[in-house]
Amino acid sequence: MTDQFSKKAEAWSARFSEPVSELVKRYTASVDFDKRLAPYDIEGSLAHADMLHAVGLLSEDDLLAISNGMARIRGEIEQGSFRWSLDLEDVHLNIEKRLTDLVGDAGKRLHTARSRNDQVATDIRLWLRDTIDTIGGLLIQLQRALLDLAERNADTIMPGFTHLQVAQPVVFGHHLMAYVEMFARDTERFADCRKRVNRLPLGAAALAGTSYPIDRERVARTLGFDGVCENSLDAVSDRDFAIEFCACASLVMTHVSRLSEELVLWMSPRVGFIDLADRFCTGSSIMPQKKNPDVPELARGKTGRVNGHLVALLTLMKGQPLAYNKDNQEDKEPLFDTADTVIETLRIFADMMGGVQVRADRMRAAAAEGFSTATDLADYLVRKGLPFRDAHEAVARAVRVAADRGVDLPALDLAQLRAFSDRIDEDVYACLTLEGSVAARRHVGGTAPEQVRAAIARARARLA
Ligand code: ARG
Repeated sequence: MTDQFSKKAEAWSARFSEPVSELVKRYTASVDFDKRLAPYDIEGSLAHADMLHAVGLLSEDDLLAISNGMARIRGEIEQGSFRWSLDLEDVHLNIEKRLTDLVGDAGKRLHTARSRNDQVATDIRLWLRDTIDTIGGLLIQLQRALLDLAERNADTIMPGFTHLQVAQPVVFGHHLMAYVEMFARDTERFADCRKRVNRLPLGAAALAGTSYPIDRERVARTLGFDGVCENSLDAVSDRDFAIEFCACASLVMTHVSRLSEELVLWMSPRVGFIDLADRFCTGSSIMPQKKNPDVPELARGKTGRVNGHLVALLTLMKGQPLAYNKDNQEDKEPLFDTADTVIETLRIFADMMGGVQVRADRMRAAAAEGFSTATDLADYLVRKGLPFRDAHEAVARAVRVAADRGVDLPALDLAQLRAFSDRIDEDVYACLTLEGSVAARRHVGGTAPEQVRAAIARARARLA
């Protein structure tokens, strides 16, 4: 019996009278995708072994053998010489089997007071914690790139839109700062999610805990967890922390997707507000003139798959009775793909946004075309004593006349403007200009260049 594990393929096969079919083996195995958890599996095993030793369940010699064996396995995996076997089902059994081959009985003692159920939950949490830290760093890089671009464009006037119709002038820096706000909230959301990820499941064993005198707090400290999962059934079965991560990922991708949509629009020759560096675009195999914004388009498309992964995990969880079920093995591919997609997307966007070429003349011309200072004229009349609704009507009439003549409001002379209200004087032109309009919005959150600069300074301080 003691030698069964090294002779038979499966760690649990002693219970069975026939081997699993090839098809079932492939169907149930996860090693092809969960092997990326290997560094975390080793880290978790070392912390577990250290604890077993500390409470007297593992000898000094066995602990040493396990650490040496694991160091060797780590090296083999890094060099690519480790032989992964489908027969050994998953990352955990592959590593444990190799350890046993290398160090004998010490390797077999490692699984004392542990199950793959609490082991895998621990591995995912360790991996996810690292992933969240990587994403956090990239979100800061992206915000810095946006802040630099916003700073250079704190005076660049563009049309602000509602319903994709020219609404009121804003400065481009203000528009960019809207995205800085979104990505700052995303950063907070991931940091908050991390708190619930960073708890230790080990010790829950299969589901009920273990009869050995384990020290979970010690393992938690060794692995840098903030504490232990309080309930063993919950510890092995719930993946809400992974779902929460996917929800954070969906939101950050949604923000990236909205930005992408705008980049595509702004880069369209019809609009021509910006240009993206050539290295983020591709040409057409048939139309020689084309320069297509592939990166933003793909990011917009990939948002769909990240949203899909969120729904996949929610659906995976919803029908599961307590405690662990094999369904949970299906958590990994959506989770890994979500992380890879978000990380690659943020990395590219941090680089791409730093190199956006702004065509200020085109932005300005568009802002000067759509009667974007009509609200300013109405506000002017209100300041001169007209009720807002009457002012709105007077300006609407002025816009109609200007539109008929094919000019913008500032092109009407004083006599023409006074036809709509005799409260209008020469000073009206100061607020009908684009500069006057943006400068007037000088409260916190407004588009006045001085306010945009202040917002940039606050955001920089937050990131410092
Ligand atoms: N590979 C499994 C997973 O990813 C962990 C093993 C648990 N298996 C089991 N038979 N209890 O969830």
